[in-house]
Amino acid sequence: MKTLKEIEVKGKRVLIRVDFNVPMNEAGEITDDLRIRTVLPTLRYLLEQQAKIIICTHMGRPKGQRVDKYSLAPVAAYLARLLDRPVPLAADCIGPEVAAAVAQLKDGEILMLENLRFHPQEEKNDPQFSAQLAAVADVYLNDAFAVSHRAHASVAGVTEYVQEKAAGFLLQKEIEYFHRCIDIPQRPLVAIVGGAKVSGKLEALRNMLERVDKMIIGGAMANTFLKSQGYSVGGSKVEDDLLETAAALLKQAKAKNIKVYLPVDVIAADRFAPDAVSKQVTIQDIPDNWMALDIGPASVICFCEVLADARTIVWNGPMGAFEMAAFARGTMALAHAVAASHALSVTGGGDSNAAIALSGESENISYMSTGGGAFLELMEGKVLPGIKALG
Ligand code: 3PG
Repeated sequence: MKTLKEIEVKGKRVLIRVDFNVPMNEAGEITDDLRIRTVLPTLRYLLEQQAKIIICTHMGRPKGQRVDKYSLAPVAAYLARLLDRPVPLAADCIGPEVAAAVAQLKDGEILMLENLRFHPQEEKNDPQFSAQLAAVADVYLNDAFAVSHRAHASVAGVTEYVQEKAAGFLLQKEIEYFHRCIDIPQRPLVAIVGGAKVSGKLEALRNMLERVDKMIIGGAMANTFLKSQGYSVGGSKVEDDLLETAAALLKQAKAKNIKVYLPVDVIAADRFAPDAVSKQVTIQDIPDNWMALDIGPASVICFCEVLADARTIVWNGPMGAFEMAAFARGTMALAHAVAASHALSVTGGGDSNAAIALSGESENISYMSTGGGAFLELMEGKVLPGIKALG
């Protein structure tokens, strides 16, 4: 795979795929700009090199239709402010108007294309659509790690039709950090896995259990593991169809001498609400019909001890319903512990990153990945189509 510095971009038309699928509020304001800021080094380099920059991205899931709320107009305006220069938005991402706008581009100027997913061919990886995207460019750059698990036209197909292709600085950095964590980790390597469901993370759990020294499991998914070990977890969310799978995973870990840490206590609540009645109980004492919404203080102490000698930490998924202040303490405590550790720490997934931002520790984490699904697929041990296509 070539990287940006290995290719000549001066004066060339560079089509750069980014993932500016950023969260926005009702008023159309960007509420988290991590995915935009992290591409700035690549964009600034292209500007310095006097390339003609054509930015393309998707936003949301408009299902192949033009949907106004998914227009990239707010993103183009935001980027223009960050770069302090005009970022005009083309009305579409392919077609004669785009070709005309690109023909007008001078060296060191930027054009942003409208949402790729306004065309159904994007998600179908349609060859004709890929060729149309490529038609306006001399060079293709992928700097969109967060969508590199999708074999879509602008991520995979397009690479067949360009003269030159390479990875941007963000994609390069994402791959490097993951490689340092998973392929050549300093040990002990500890994985922290949380979030709502075991089902969505089954493959990641399986693969990580082959690689880590220790694994901490928290969040609602821990309930399924606890129940598989015979604990009654009251009215907590449990995936009953996965009890055997969960037990088998724990057995597999034990056979390989990999230590798995489950919560020993939880914050149980009488309902899923910010003002629910809640109390701290051991996992043996969760009242019937109450649900575990956070890990408890004894679990925090135990998990922090596990992290104390870690040299590498990979974290995906919160320890509880941290979006409600009453159930955020466990996740916040872990964020502080990861930040204070001497380990190389890498986190991924929208929830984990939001939780770390809430804890104020973003600056103290070695690397916060921009990927959600893409990060998880790397944890699953998969080769991402977008990365493969650059090879
Ligand atoms: C993400 O937000 O994880 C990426 O932008 C991919 O979006 P998608 O899940 O809609 O393909």
